[in-house]
Amino acid sequence: MIIAVDGPAASGKGTIARALAKHYGLPHLDTGLLYRAVGATVLKNDLDPSNEADAVASCSFDDSLLDDPALKTEDAGKAASIVSAHPLVRAALLLRQKKFAHQPGGAVLDGRDIGTVIAPDADVKLFVKATPMIRAQRRHLELRKQGILASIDKVLGDIRARDERDTKRSDAPMKQAEDAALLDTSFLSIDAAVQRAIALVEARM
Ligand code: C5P
Repeated sequence: MIIAVDGPAASGKGTIARALAKHYGLPHLDTGLLYRAVGATVLKNDLDPSNEADAVASCSFDDSLLDDPALKTEDAGKAASIVSAHPLVRAALLLRQKKFAHQPGGAVLDGRDIGTVIAPDADVKLFVKATPMIRAQRRHLELRKQGILASIDKVLGDIRARDERDTKRSDAPMKQAEDAALLDTSFLSIDAAVQRAIALVEARM
């Protein structure tokens, strides 16, 4: 069984994908980490994320980097969203994601283009969303827990900029697949969102 979970930043898609993987005993891939690894490598080497050649040169990172907490920072997320617009970067990461999705026994993947590009044949597709303000409030809280103080306006601005880049790029833009179920987590607790996701999976199996 392949479960594709797509959606924007701080929509809850990662939490839901992890919970589904645990519930069904499936391996899980957070595909955003791959783009974050490319973005972080570009920044570490003082290269320019908007330059396609610089970004492509940063695609052969060591897998151990995927466990680095530095990938979770706002800077890595922003760089990820810039490098992810380059078609050659997406092409460099494509096969790895397709292989993960199509391994024997199935898998859960979350990202922006899982249901549309990586696994259009997924058995279940979810598109997770929440209002920009609610996503900004969640991110703001997360940042505060990490001791990072940023105004809610700044966080909201960053979220909107990221959405804009992810939906407007020409190659594999973020969009709800036609056959994806929509899950709006704006007014749901984490538990309620996970239960709703399981119910949607069950209804489509
Ligand atoms: O999901 P996360 O916020 O970690 O993703 C970081 C960035 O990576 C996104 O803003 C997006 O630009 C890019 N990404 C993508 N395709 C995916 C997953 C992430 O373009 N499948």
